[in-house]
Amino acid sequence: MHSTAFFLGKGGVGKTTLSSAFALTLARQGAKVLVASLDPAHNLGDALGLKLSGNATSVEPNLDALEVDLGYWVDKYLEDSRRQLKANYAYNVTLNLDSFFDILKYSPGTEEYAVLWAIEDIHCRLGPLYDVVVFDTPPTALSLRFLSLPTISGLWVKELGKLREKILTKRQTITRLNPDSPVAASCVDKDDDKVYGQLKGIKARLQALEHLFACQSFISVIINPDKLSVDEALRIQEELTKLHVPLSAVCINKQGVSDMEWSQNPSLARYPQFIYDFSRGGISTREDLLGIGADALAERFREASSDTNVKGKKPCN
Ligand SMILES: Nc1ncnc2c1ncn2[C@@H]1O[C@H](COP(=O)(O)OP(=O)(O)O)[C@@H](O)[C@H]1O
Ligand SMILES: [Mg+2]
Repeated sequence: MHSTAFFLGKGGVGKTTLSSAFALTLARQGAKVLVASLDPAHNLGDALGLKLSGNATSVEPNLDALEVDLGYWVDKYLEDSRRQLKANYAYNVTLNLDSFFDILKYSPGTEEYAVLWAIEDIHCRLGPLYDVVVFDTPPTALSLRFLSLPTISGLWVKELGKLREKILTKRQTITRLNPDSPVAASCVDKDDDKVYGQLKGIKARLQALEHLFACQSFISVIINPDKLSVDEALRIQEELTKLHVPLSAVCINKQGVSDMEWSQNPSLARYPQFIYDFSRGGISTREDLLGIGADALAERFREASSDTNVKGKKPCN
């Protein structure tokens, strides 16, 4: 077994609680589990009862946890972009690169890219050390943006690749007509072009993440028996459908929290349902988390991840 699970849903529905309970349950059943918080307002450590950092910390045998340091990933993303731009445009002294870097820092999308590259790092570097990686996610808006980024950025990178090919072809034409032209020095085949190679590299990374979300992840949406959390879950479901990312489970948490009449929305009722009662005594220890009863969800997860091929990859239909 080697797989990834994400818990999505409105703030306060119980993402951190259920991610922790699910991870603990699998760990106590013998799987080696890492639970990672992607929420900039971390409270995974509070739920598990210990202080966490950006590095995996042992919670108990079989269970490690970390809280992604988003600030570190934003800085790293900006620094990597800065380095690449500087290297690519080192020849052009007239270009004021520093002004570009300032814009980059405030450009929209920086935070979601940072989350995306953090997920990639956890999946590629730490994933092989565990049977299961569980992600506790940030608020819905940010989660939907990082989930859609591989697809959207993939389209951009594809167009940029085509543009680069055109530039290279034009350089070849100019060089043929005038071998002494200044572009002759940078007239290379696309396989030898640094920029084209970088675009190819980014495309491959984005495709791997798109595959992770769409084909290798067990995605649960959590709701409470109230209208607002259901409305948000419906928006999540709609977005995931657009991205061809399947929803694996719907968790109804805090059942019985109020006496209000409540029935499941038909659009969500067609997914496997898992119900968790509202614990009136509160949830403050790891044993309380286990008391929530995540066994059925863990069982469904095991079944879903056993539909995998030998490489641990669920085939995409
Ligand atoms: N089944 C439950 N019974 C009682 N309290 C719960 C339950 N699930 C979550 N809570 C409580 O609800 C609050 C919000 O849960 P949390 O997991 O932090 O939500 P989220 O991560 O979605 O913002 C916390 O105080 C948590 O202890
Ligand atoms: Mg949370």
